Amino acid sequence: MTWTLSQRAQKLTSSAIREILKVTERPDVISFAGGLPSPATFPVTQLQQACNEILTTEPTPALQYGPTEGYMPLREWIAVHHSKRCGIPIGADQVLVTTGSQQGLDLLAKVLIDTGSKVLVETPTYLGALQAFSLAEPRYCSVPSDDAGLIPASLTAEMCQEARFLYCLPNFQNPSGRRLPLERRQQLAEITARAGLLLIEDDPYGDLYYQGEPLPGLLSMNPGGVVYLGSFSKVLAPGLRVGYLIAPPALQRKLVQAKQAADLHTPSFTQRMVHTTIKDGFLDSHLRQVAVEEAVLREACSSGCNCRPTSIVANCLKPPFSSTSHSFLGRPSMPTNRSPIPCDCPSSRYHRPRSRPALRAWVPCLPCGRSRDSRETGAGTDTEPKHAGQAVAAGYLPVLFASPCSLNIYSA
Ligand SMILES: Cc1ncc(COP(=O)(O)O)c(C=O)c1O
Repeated sequence: MTWTLSQRAQKLTSSAIREILKVTERPDVISFAGGLPSPATFPVTQLQQACNEILTTEPTPALQYGPTEGYMPLREWIAVHHSKRCGIPIGADQVLVTTGSQQGLDLLAKVLIDTGSKVLVETPTYLGALQAFSLAEPRYCSVPSDDAGLIPASLTAEMCQEARFLYCLPNFQNPSGRRLPLERRQQLAEITARAGLLLIEDDPYGDLYYQGEPLPGLLSMNPGGVVYLGSFSKVLAPGLRVGYLIAPPALQRKLVQAKQAADLHTPSFTQRMVHTTIKDGFLDSHLRQVAVEEAVLREACSSGCNCRPTSIVANCLKPPFSSTSHSFLGRPSMPTNRSPIPCDCPSSRYHRPRSRPALRAWVPCLPCGRSRDSRETGAGTDTEPKHAGQAVAAGYLPVLFASPCSLNIYSA
């Protein structure tokens, strides 16, 4: 049997993200390439309690169809949280709960892009956003960036003219890890407001800082001209698939209609799971724990790994590990001045980070093609794991970088 695929479907290519996520299905690997949170940070106990509570106290609405806009108590929580954070009033009616923020990107593409529409993106940018937008067949225009991020001064009037929106990631940008400095945020908000250009602020990593203070978001600088995308994937668990967007009311209504056509609504059950878990202030303490976890891993990586990462993230033009990043998730700070260690250099395998002597980093060469047997005969003491399988069997935590070498970290 043959099918006639739509022209759009014919243009679809295999997703690099999917290829990356395939690796993550391996039990002995945590890939940094796809922005995966460490499973050690998943609040399993709290989610278990939330699950029991929901199925005991409100099984019917949790298992029934719900409103497309989302579960109202969760929308209200999000509105209050961002009102406080931005210092401006945000109404629950501006919030649309989405099935991950990835769905927000897809809905924006459906609502804002026609074939050939001009769309501005920073360089490099999040591959998943390009995938979502590309189905609507836009004409991309790259906004120049440097090590500090997008350069607002490069946004000429001509560039902004007739563009449907500018997609940007001010916090711990995927894939570069850059955080846009305050002054540039202000310039960006001013220039785009003047040009009447809509800003899409994608911010799944904004809460995951562990140094300094958070910087004000673009939403707080131009509430009428920004669509903000948030997610519980990186702060609770991505498997819940709960994200959200905050949009000016007229646009929010269109996005609701697009979502209705896509999936009716995000699961009533997982929305309640998220709300029950966070409603009494759990997120603040949890985020601090996540930050500690990340800081420890970062320390292990920056002091221990001698390999120079060359990302397999397809659109990554530079090493993704920025030494100025203040967040770890998906983009650890890595020293870039060290030479790559040859794969068969056993001396590069073991390291004790300064801050946590109990934590050891293991640098095997999983993706480079060396066989497990040859690793097993490599250096290290008899009691040290020789490969990821042994490390996992011994209860250690292996971590894989998207690089020719990989860094495994496990606590002794
Ligand atoms: C920048 C960015 N935006 C959006 C997403 C999608 O996140 P989710 O759909 O899990 O909320 C990701 C995931 O890694 C991301 O890195």
